[in-house]
Amino acid sequence: MQATIALLPGDGIGPEVIDAAVQVLETVAKRFRHTFTLTRWPIGAAAMRAGDPALPGPTREACMAADAVLLGAVGDPEYSSGPSERRPETALLQLRLDLGVFANLRPARVWPGLEASSSLKPELVTGLDLLIVRELTGGIYYAKPRGRTDDGRAAFDTMKYSKDEVERIARVAFENARQRRHLVTSVDKANVLETSRLWREVVTQVSTGYPDVKLEHQLVDSCALLLVSSARKFDVVLAGNLFGDILSDEAGAVVGSLGLLPSASIGGRGGLFEPVHGSAPDIAGGDVANPIGAIASAALLLRYALKATEEAAAIECAIGATLAAGVRTADLQGESDGKPASCSAMTKAIVDRIAC
Ligand code: IPM
Ligand code: MN
Repeated sequence: MQATIALLPGDGIGPEVIDAAVQVLETVAKRFRHTFTLTRWPIGAAAMRAGDPALPGPTREACMAADAVLLGAVGDPEYSSGPSERRPETALLQLRLDLGVFANLRPARVWPGLEASSSLKPELVTGLDLLIVRELTGGIYYAKPRGRTDDGRAAFDTMKYSKDEVERIARVAFENARQRRHLVTSVDKANVLETSRLWREVVTQVSTGYPDVKLEHQLVDSCALLLVSSARKFDVVLAGNLFGDILSDEAGAVVGSLGLLPSASIGGRGGLFEPVHGSAPDIAGGDVANPIGAIASAALLLRYALKATEEAAAIECAIGATLAAGVRTADLQGESDGKPASCSAMTKAIVDRIAC
């Protein structure tokens, strides 16, 4: 197979974790005899520092032309107080929209052996395996109007969803539930929000086409509670853009570290794959970041964008074997544990297990 993958290392720990994912992709290419053309493009503060917009034209074009995009992270404290068009995050939001990737899949599982890293008691999380399906190109992230009043004393955003937007993301959730444990939990705030009432109505309607899948509705506040009290009850969690964003960080703590979580944004051109964690500027450049979120995102890229199922499974198997062997980056360790593995040591441990 031949494929072109656009790499967007971005800010903070982005470049380190993308380097890790590249080593894994190169190992897979060698073992399975594929030719991956990997090209690197600037995005976020990394582009702004060079005097370019956060999403430079050539970066956008390369992403539109590629078979898939693998992104590290965007966000930088130096640009955190600027107006929205001068913020690194805007580049990512624009890219998601341009690629049309409306469905964001965020699988979260407790890897065997990692139970002690969870923020919760091990008996609450053993075997936990859920999939957050987050709507990614609509809702309060994008709807207009948004801005400040003329006197600058108030600000406003708009939460808006169309029937079509809800319908297509609901279908993704039900299709995924069919491949899993046949349960969709739809998250909303229907006791307060008009958009949520529409959301609930449309999801219920879509569910009639999937009689083999059970549908439950959960208010977002109660869902946040259940995630830290009985998360194993969930299979597929379907949520709008903002609620999905918040709940996926919570899921990160539950499975042991946000650094573990990958994501696949699909439904449009190619696909955009990125770890759920951010740029973590406080640890950037120190070779201490957990590369698993980015490496597992590369696995999702192979599975969803390139239909390379066996290759994706080989990466996930190597991650599992590495964790089962007790290799831990700092974020996964307890206070009494010994010296943690660096980002590069964790990467090597995973690469060695793919090659075998
Ligand atoms: C995420 C991030 C982004 C989001 C930011 C960086 C714009 O938090 O992918 O979860 O809110 O979608
Ligand atoms: Mn987030």
